[in-house]
Amino acid sequence: MATKILVTGGTGYIGSHTVVELQNAGFEVVIIDNLSNSNIGVLDGIEQITGIRPAFVEGDVCDKTTLNALFEAHSDIKGIINFAASKAVGESVEKPLKYYSNNLVSLINLLDMMPHYGVKGIVFSSSCTVYGEPDVNPIDETAPIKVATSPYGNTKQISEEIINDYIRSGAAIKSIILRYFNPVGAHPSALIGELPNGVPNNLIPYLTQTAAGIRKQLTVFGNDYNTPDGSCIRDFIDVVDLAKAHVVAMRRMLENDQTEAVEVFNLGTGRGLSVLELIDAFQRATGVAVPYVIGERRAGDIEQIWAEPTKANTVLGWRAEMPIEDTMRHAWAWQLHLQNK
Ligand code: WQD
Repeated sequence: MATKILVTGGTGYIGSHTVVELQNAGFEVVIIDNLSNSNIGVLDGIEQITGIRPAFVEGDVCDKTTLNALFEAHSDIKGIINFAASKAVGESVEKPLKYYSNNLVSLINLLDMMPHYGVKGIVFSSSCTVYGEPDVNPIDETAPIKVATSPYGNTKQISEEIINDYIRSGAAIKSIILRYFNPVGAHPSALIGELPNGVPNNLIPYLTQTAAGIRKQLTVFGNDYNTPDGSCIRDFIDVVDLAKAHVVAMRRMLENDQTEAVEVFNLGTGRGLSVLELIDAFQRATGVAVPYVIGERRAGDIEQIWAEPTKANTVLGWRAEMPIEDTMRHAWAWQLHLQNK
């Protein structure tokens, strides 16, 4: 009998890629998603890749009635991966209450219900944003958590504290917190990928839309930073590598391999790449030019951050493997697939 996992936000970018890897690993998946920032057509892509259509509940994790009904209908859920959250940094500054309400109430509902329904553990989708601007790079899990630079980042910090406090209070559940660096790319099949709503905020979807001629040019937000080529540095991690880390974490949690009730892992490649280096990697990998200009810095941007992934490599037993050129080719193939839909 396959172990059943609830994936909240499972039709989203990282969620959908994680559902594919969970199914590939033999787990049975139930998705709950309110489709506020994703498209139900993603289920077709997942099914085309794995041959299995995950059970799907359209609903809001903030709604207790919906969530109770889901757990009553799927009383054999053993683990949860919680992606469902609002995640646009800029929007969180304009609408902080939306972010605090949506991101925190959904998590609290899940935690509150888990013991009652026999759910053993929760893998939580966190972010390197909790570190703010690092004093040193690469950054490991012992780095200080700094004052959040956005309400979005603050919801991730508060969520981690809620999980720790609840488990410290004696709740009979476990948790693995995964701090993502910059997820990029798409599934090699080009059947699922990033589906930004409107004008993309993140670098790669804007870059691929520019390469496709949808956008006139990419603006590089500043080349006067204290970095080798003046542009910001990030740890760009392939979304499929990231998805596979969730499967490893879920297995670790359910097979009682955890050494602490709450474990934290930085999920990155350990390689810092600048914005200009990433543009160059895309052009080299695809042969497609990306017209860009240098613009002003973007408010709130961190100058440089990349992961020290040794703990994830050695304790979790996971390592990012996809070469950046392949990641760029997958992102481009996905962009072309979107245009031929
Ligand atoms: C990356 C770099 C920009 C767009 C955010 C969230 C983080 C996570 C990932 C959710 C920066 C530059 C971008 C453009 C550019 N989200 N850039 N031109 O800001 O590092 O991280 O997304 O978990 O929590 O904070 O990602 O892709 O927006 O920017 O020059 O059109 O690309 O200045 O240096 P970011 P990003």
